[in-house]
Amino acid sequence: MQEPARNIVLIGPMGSGKSTVGSALARRLGRPHVDTDHFFVARHGSIAEYFITHGEEAFRAEEEKIVAELLDSPRPSVLSLGGGSVLSARTREALRRQLVVMLDLTAQQAAQRLGDGSTRPVLGDDPVTSWRRIYAEREALYRECADVVVPPAEGTIDERVDTIVSALRAVH
Ligand code: S3P
Repeated sequence: MQEPARNIVLIGPMGSGKSTVGSALARRLGRPHVDTDHFFVARHGSIAEYFITHGEEAFRAEEEKIVAELLDSPRPSVLSLGGGSVLSARTREALRRQLVVMLDLTAQQAAQRLGDGSTRPVLGDDPVTSWRRIYAEREALYRECADVVVPPAEGTIDERVDTIVSALRAVH
C-alpha cells in the first residue's frame, strides 16, 4: 500500500478491538503502534484508580493532552485511542488531519468481550447496560470523525486488518 503521511487512528467503543487490531495493522504496515490507554497507564498508573482519586474530568483532560502529544509524533504511526477520546472537541478537530478508522461492534459482541468491566470505570456495576448507553451517546461522534467505518464482524484479526487496508486504499 502506498503509505499516507498521516497517522492512522483507530477509534470506537470499548471492546471493539482497537488495541489488538491496531497492533496487527501497525505490524502489517511496518509502522509503530501506540495505544493511548497504555501510554496513560505508563504515565499515571491504573485508569480505574485514577478515576477514583482524580475523577473523570481530570482523566479526560489528561487523555486529551496525551492524544495531542501522540498525534504529533514525527513518524506516521498507528494509534489506538481510548473509547472516550472523541468526547474532546480539541481531539475531534485534530482528527480531521488524520486517517481515522472507526471499529464498530454490536452490543452482543461487547457483552462477550467486556467481562466484569472492572478495568473500565465508566462501565460501573452493570457493564452491558452502561455500554449501550455510552454507545448511544457517542455513536454520532465516532461517525463524524471517521473516514472509514469498519462494520461489526466476526472473523480473525488478520481479516479485520485486510478490511481496513482495502478501505484505506479507497479513501486516500
Ligand atoms: C473509556 C475507554 C477505555 C479507557 C477508559 C475510558 C471510555 O478505553 O480509556 O476506561 O470512556 O470509553 P478502551 O476504549 O480502550 O476500552
